[in-house]
Amino acid sequence: MSINLTTHNLVVEFGALRALGPVSIQIQAGQFVAIVGPSGCGKSTLIRVLAGLQAASFGEARLGEQIIRQPSMRVGMMFQSANLMPWRTVMDNIALPLELAGISSIERQAAVYDLLPLLNLEDFAKAYPDELSGGMAQRVALGRVLIQKPDVLLLDEPFGALDAMTREQISLDLLAMWARDRQTAVMVTHDIHEAVLLSDRVLVMSPRPGQIVEDIAVDLPRPRHIEQTYDTEFAYLAQTIRKAIRL
Ligand SMILES: Nc1ncnc2c1ncn2[C@@H]1O[C@H](COP(=O)(O)OP(=O)(O)OP(=O)(O)O)[C@@H](O)[C@H]1O
Ligand SMILES: [Mg+2]
Repeated sequence: MSINLTTHNLVVEFGALRALGPVSIQIQAGQFVAIVGPSGCGKSTLIRVLAGLQAASFGEARLGEQIIRQPSMRVGMMFQSANLMPWRTVMDNIALPLELAGISSIERQAAVYDLLPLLNLEDFAKAYPDELSGGMAQRVALGRVLIQKPDVLLLDEPFGALDAMTREQISLDLLAMWARDRQTAVMVTHDIHEAVLLSDRVLVMSPRPGQIVEDIAVDLPRPRHIEQTYDTEFAYLAQTIRKAIRL
């Protein structure tokens, strides 16, 4: 069941440095929100607060009614690097959260085999991370997040290190999985094209300390297709977002 994510006057400071805020945002359950903004404006810091990995200095973030103070099993997070365990197979990397939760080996296997086709990894269950391409490694990382059936997905430039074609394909696959489960999703990206293609809404942040300067609705029909990126409406949205980002 997906859930609202909100912040109220959220500020993060590191010593004398204000890294973020104040930021007040309301993300409705099941919404896909992209966050863009200049480097160093506090995007990762915001995601880390939402993940319960970073404390607020002022204000608060809430998952539903609950103030976020620590990581939650309801929240799955993905970063730019896959951080796979090299000594574990694809299957055992994906199953790790279930193993930590004490789920039996048979149930873990069944859950992984359900996911592998969606991730386009059905032939690689027994492969090791060093046998995978960058895109495949990110698919494994995505599998490791999805297997815990999170209600919230927090994605910090998850495809940032991949080439353009690979990231387009994997982001459309992510979108298909999101359409099925409708997690509340927040994705940081440097790629305006990717932000428009995936999201319901794009939040644009100012330079550090990042505040939300634009909140742009992306009312393009779903399911989304690559062909939509050639529409005038798509180009207009991308241009609006680009103009709102002050570097
Ligand atoms: N743990 C930390 N200790 C001290 N300063 C930090 C810490 N984490 C982040 N910062 C600072 O906070 C600011 C925001 O960093 P953050 O990583 O959130 O930016 P970002 O928007 O994600 O940048 P990028 O687009 O380059 O990933 C930066 O000035 C950074 O140096
Ligand atoms: Mg960052």
